[in-house]
Formats: sequence, structure tokens, C-alpha cells
Amino acid sequence: MDVLQDSSSALVVNASSPLVSPIMQFFTSVVLLGSVALQTVFARPGPAKVQLSTRAVGDFINTETPIALEQLLCNIGANGCNSAGVSSGLVIASPSKQDPDYWYTWTRDSALVFKSIVDRFTNSYDAGLQRHITEYIVAQARLQGVSNPSGGFSDGSGLAEPKYNVDGSAFTGAWGRPQRDGPALRAIAIMSYGEWLLDNSYTDTAKNIVWPVVRNDLEYVAQYWNQTGFDLWEEVRGSSFFTIASQHQALVQGYRFAARVGASGAHYQATAPSVLCFLQSFWNPSKGYIDSNINVNDGRTGLDANSILASIHTFDASIGCDSTTFQPCSDKALSNLKAVVDSFRFYNINNGIPKGTALAVGRYAEDVYYNGNPWYLNTLAAAEQLYDAVYVWKQQGSVTVTATSRAFFADLIPNIAVGTYQSGSSTYNSIIQAVSQYGDGFVNVVTTYAQSNGSLAEQFSKQDGTPLSARDLTWSYASFLTAAARRAGVIPRPWSGGVEALPGTCSAVSFTGSYTSATATNFPASQTPVAGTGTATGTSPPTTSTTAQPPSTTTACAIAPQVTVNFVARVVTNYGDTVKLVGNVDKLGNWNPSSGVVFSASDYQANNPVWKGSVVLSAGQSIQYKYVKVLSDGTVKWEADPNRTYSVPRSCATAVTRSDTWQT
Ligand SMILES: *[C@@H]1O[C@H](CO)[C@@H](O)[C@H](O)[C@H]1NC(C)=O
Ligand SMILES: *[C@@H]1O[C@H](CO)[C@@H](O)[C@H](O)[C@H]1NC(C)=O
Ligand SMILES: *[C@@H]1O[C@H](CO)[C@@H](O)[C@H](O)[C@H]1NC(C)=O
Repeated sequence: MDVLQDSSSALVVNASSPLVSPIMQFFTSVVLLGSVALQTVFARPGPAKVQLSTRAVGDFINTETPIALEQLLCNIGANGCNSAGVSSGLVIASPSKQDPDYWYTWTRDSALVFKSIVDRFTNSYDAGLQRHITEYIVAQARLQGVSNPSGGFSDGSGLAEPKYNVDGSAFTGAWGRPQRDGPALRAIAIMSYGEWLLDNSYTDTAKNIVWPVVRNDLEYVAQYWNQTGFDLWEEVRGSSFFTIASQHQALVQGYRFAARVGASGAHYQATAPSVLCFLQSFWNPSKGYIDSNINVNDGRTGLDANSILASIHTFDASIGCDSTTFQPCSDKALSNLKAVVDSFRFYNINNGIPKGTALAVGRYAEDVYYNGNPWYLNTLAAAEQLYDAVYVWKQQGSVTVTATSRAFFADLIPNIAVGTYQSGSSTYNSIIQAVSQYGDGFVNVVTTYAQSNGSLAEQFSKQDGTPLSARDLTWSYASFLTAAARRAGVIPRPWSGGVEALPGTCSAVSFTGSYTSATATNFPASQTPVAGTGTATGTSPPTTSTTAQPPSTTTACAIAPQVTVNFVARVVTNYGDTVKLVGNVDKLGNWNPSSGVVFSASDYQANNPVWKGSVVLSAGQSIQYKYVKVLSDGTVKWEADPNRTYSVPRSCATAVTRSDTWQT
């Protein structure tokens, strides 16, 4: 059944309409509680080209964001709502304990999840997320020393163990090991927090607590990158594009981070060019795509979402569309995206979807796990790559179509010619619009096949889209949050120092590492942002800070279930105006200004226009909100976008203060 709606037609959805899928009934009822009426129905992808409303995708993103963040945090020990018995700072892959049993902590999944948390945190300070980050680092320092079937600590070999029991002990069953992306991804996630510490002058913490953990993982990468291991899907032993790309980033980010903490990164700097050189050998120029697994005879085409994930997770907007690092907007990565997406046309739910229209993306066509199905995180990765590309094109003010990327663009704009299109030209505008809409289409596939209450499992059926395999997969939620952030123009901090020269011939430089237990793991309390040392990450975030005191991770105290959040908003008003707080939960009026929280001007001064109000929220709860001014004649004025997001810390504190400034 297809419900085709022109994006311009306004249709208020009847939540009981049989035409509406369960997910839409859920989101519709949520949306209709607020003051917004949904403009269009999501169509199941069908034979005709679906006109997608950006508004509809935006509504899904607004509704799903707090759910995704909450569910992601539920999967983190020790206090996550789905993590009873999980050690502090460890991330379970999923709460599912059978069919499949994902009740373990994977180094890769955890690192990708925490990279997304750190990026979110550095964009907008949040004491609750900071506590999770420090607990993660403490937990990883401990895991590094756990001997396991991949090996021990003294020669580094144990660092590439893929998964551990949820109490942090070694998993000793048979498994595809070692997996050499783990140490690289963990180093990247932890360094990203270390960079925030340095930016905010917490130099000792970065040097003495963060660096020793990162250092072991970087030593590992510099020693073992040129040996085969299992790929991210844990099936093939060879050289994996995702692993090598992650290792390259870790080494480059690593030698730059080492310099900032006054340590030597010479080995990492000397190794990086070899890894980058080797990365080029995955590219198949005659086929125009990345062969995701080489140095192995796996009988596959090599078309694999592995390569899309590598591109988005090594995104660095400061190097534009660099193709040696396969940046999301590079001609090679776009050509590859097309080839990988096209390889999933045989799924029943993708049947008849025309080229240039989004579809459900799996791992690789030959996949037999659960009979081989699309995955939410791979479908969202395709969206994210396109959002990354749009971000960079807008930043550089042009789009270049090469012979390599022409086929990708031609699916969207037939007959497009090779060349550079400057911003302002009609072709540039068409490209930006078409690629943004193409990205939204992948999110819309997830909207269509997500569970009705917003839960994201691992897979959905290639036959009919029913959610399958592990429920509430942590990585699925992280992939949703990063795709949504990129769509909103929020990007990660650059990791490179610029485009790196490629050696003329590849060599295989490596160094035998030295490994030292990272034992100093008491993070000091109260490491809040230092005024005036903003961390630039793409679009400047709204001026927000909180004076919550994050407890030291070693403090034993009861988590306060309810937290009084004291909002302090600086809003210039005229006599007779009122300020209110409006947001996406009952206590904040469900976006209805007449039900918002009324603020007080008792401390208002001309040179310090403070409005204050308090709300009691649950620990760990995520909210979205905005301020409104209600003028004396009743007119409601909303502050400018974006919507603010906040997660209430889970800590001993029963009250926290959050400071905001009116967004213009
Ligand atoms: C090691 O590096 C060399 C040079 O790039 C490359 O030819 C070889 O395939 C690599 N082997 C592995 C297992 O990474
Ligand atoms: C959605 O419902 C399922 C049960 O069908 C439950 O396991 C899951 O926790 C729910 N998810 C959310 C986000 O409430
Ligand atoms: C803010 O949230 C409201 C309610 O969900 C939504 O209608 C609006 O589009 C959001 N604004 C932005 C910029 O996402």
C-alpha cells in the first residue's frame, strides 16, 4: 500500500486511520499533543517516487532523539535501566540475552557509542554525560589489563579482544578474534574527551588520567596494524577497510594529541603514512567501489556497509572532500555509496524503488546472519554520509562532480556533467536539495520500519520490514543520534592536521609497543567548561552551561531519582512581558506555550536580565525545550532554533542549575 503525498499538501493524520502504520500512530499521537499538526504521511517505499516532506523527517527526528538518547543510556552500567548487573562504564550491545545473546560488552560498539556521547557532550556541556564518559574511561583502563584468549597485556595482544563479559571478566568461548579496530576506536573516543579537557585547561587530567589509557591503544595500533584480523562483522579474517581507516585516524589524531600532552607521538606519526598508503589498495578503480575485505579470499564482491561506516566515522570537515581518506563527499566515497546501496536492491522491501531514492541498507549482499537483512545502523549511515557531504559542500561553497562520482550524481540529476558547480548556480542548488532529500529518504526508511514505540533493534526483515534480531541495539541508537546531529549541521571536531601527502610507494612501518597499566583513574570532580574556551565543533552551540557538580567517579553515593533543575535564562524583555519554558514533556507543556513553565523576573536587572524557574525531572531523563516570551498583548515569541536538548544527570545531586541565553 502506498500513501503518496505531495510535500506541499497539508493533511492532518487521523491516528486511527488504517492507512497509518503503527509507528505513525505512535508519533502522530505524540505530535498532535503539541501545537503542531503533522503535514504528511510517510509512505512505505513503493514503486512510485515518494515525495518526501523534510518536515515529516524533522518530526520523526524530534520525537526519536530523546527516545534514542534515553535508550542508549539504558544500556550502560551500572545504573542504566536495562543494565542490571553490568559494571560501571561498560556498554552492553543490547539487553537481549538469547536469540541472540548480546549480553556482553564489545570494544568496538562501546567506542562508537562513546564517541557519539563525547561529541554530543563537547557540543553542549552535560554533567550526566560527563559522568558516563569518565566511568567509561575508568572501565576501559581496567579492561586493558584483563588477560583473554587474544592474549595478555605485556605485549599488547590482549587489547584486540573483541568482547568481554558484562562484569569486565574475559569471555573465553570461541569467537572471531582478534579484532584490531577496537583499540583504535577506543583511542579515538577517549582522545576526543581528552581534547575537550585540554581545550578547557584541565591539562593534568588529560596528561595523567586520559593519556596513559590512550597510549596503550596507540602503541597497539602502531605495532599490529599490518597483521590480519577479523572484520567489524566478526566473520572474515583478512584486512578490513573499516579497521585500517580507523587505525589511520587513531595514529594521526594520536600523534597530535601526544604533542598536546607533552608526550612523544613520533612512532604514530611515522606509521600513519604506511597505513594511509595501504588504505588505497582497497579501492577498485575499474568497479568504482571499495572492496571492504582484502588479503582474504572470501568469495564476496566486497560491496559492504563496512566502507560507508568507515567514511562517516573518519569524517573530518577540515579536509573537505579529500579522497585519500575517503571523506564522505569524496568522489570515491560517493561512487562507493551508490554501488553499495544498489547491491541491496534485491531485498523484497526495496523492490521497485528507483535509483536515487533511498532504500533499506544491509551489511553485504551475501549475508546469511538471520538470513541477511537490512540494519538500522547501516541505513542511517547512508543518511549520515550524505548529510556530511552536504555540510562540506555548503562550507566550501561548491560541489565538484568527477568522472568517478558522476554516476552517483546522475541518479539524482540525470545528464549532469563533470565539473565544479559554485554556490548560487542552479545546478549547485539542485545538488544540495537532491542530496539532502536523498539523505532524508534513508532516515524515512528507518521511520517506516522502526518499532511503534521508537525502539530500534539490530535488523529489520528484508521481506516485510519487521524488526529482527537483538532488541534496543545500543549502536542503532548511536547511529540515529549522529545522523540527526549531522543533519542539523553539528559535526565532530577535526582529527587531522590537514590533507596528508601519500607516499609514492607503500611500506609497512611498524614499531614494537611498550605497554604500561593505566592505574591513575580518579577523575577530579567539577570539571565544567571554562568560560571563553569554547570548543568549536561546527555550528556554534547555543550558549549553555550548567553548574552541576559532577561527582568524582569514585564517590559512592545514592543516585537521586528526582532532580530539581533550576533554569536561569538571560532574556531581555519589556515591562509586562513574561518568559516561559516550553518543551516536549508534560511538565514542560508538550510544546504548548499556554501550558509552559512560568518564570520569575525577581532577579531581573537591566545589565543582567535573569529569568528563573524550576522543574523537577527524573534522573537520566532527556528533554527538548525552548524559551518563549509572552508579550503583554498575549503574542507568543519563540526563541530561534535549534531546540535545546538536555539530559538530567544521574548523580547524587538532588538539584542542578542550567544557564541559558535567549537564542536569536
Ligand atoms: C602490510 O602492508 C603492505 C604494504 O602496504 C601490504 O602490501 C600488505 O598487504 C599489508 N598486510 C596486512 C596484513 O596488512
Ligand atoms: C518498546 O516495546 C518493547 C516491547 O514490545 C519494549 O521491550 C521496549 O523497551 C519498548 N521501547 C521503548 C523505547 O519504550
Ligand atoms: C523543535 O521541536 C518542535 C516540536 O517537536 C518541532 O516542531 C520543530 O520543528 C523543532 N525545531 C527544530 C529546529 O528542529
